[in-house]
Amino acid sequence: MSKKDIKRKVMRISLLGDSGVGKTCIINKYLYDKFSETHQSSIGIEKNEKRLKMNDGNELKVIIWDTAGQERFKAMSTNTIKGAQGIVLVFDNTKKTTYESLPTWIKDVKEVKDNIPIVLFGNKCDLIDQTEVEKDEAEEFAKDNNMEYFETSAKENINIEKGFKSIIDKAYETAQEEDGLDLKKTEKKKKSKC
Ligand code: GTP
Repeated sequence: MSKKDIKRKVMRISLLGDSGVGKTCIINKYLYDKFSETHQSSIGIEKNEKRLKMNDGNELKVIIWDTAGQERFKAMSTNTIKGAQGIVLVFDNTKKTTYESLPTWIKDVKEVKDNIPIVLFGNKCDLIDQTEVEKDEAEEFAKDNNMEYFETSAKENINIEKGFKSIIDKAYETAQEEDGLDLKKTEKKKKSKC
């Protein structure tokens, strides 16, 4: 592929799930290799970015939206679903109620964008003694809802990279088919002067 054929495309991935499941920590681990023990409720949408080189040679700017899990911010989540090409849906392995919320989150997503790829993270898998959701059960739920499932730990860096790779690849493939990547912001790579 010649340099002028290389395109830089923009993709948005949105993290959804109940408050406290670890969405901010997952993003911080993935993008900055950082982890914090404290929970500070997100109060809106924060954008973070990463640039990736795809197998087809294209450069991808992935913008990751961190949303607030609290009910009062639900309208904002709707906006982030609208603008996203992929969803990371997160529950807390040590808190069954966050797993029980998943059907509602999935319904909310489907109401806005029916075909958007979703990947499921069962986070805090490092807290083995406190697990309230069995892996088999979560895997079956994910399969029934056409999602890939990863047991993750932002703290111990388990499956974070792998989970993001899975959703980015899937979203890239789907968006290419539907021409759904942000073409307005598609830029041709500048030719170097020398
Ligand atoms: P909202 O912004 O309210 O929606 O919460 P959130 O989903 O962004 O949760 P956040 O990332 O702030 O994490 C909540 C708490 O869980 C913090 O105290 C984190 O330290 C803790 N936490 C997050 N991920 C993990 C993990 O993988 N393992 C363990 N043990 N704790 C985690």
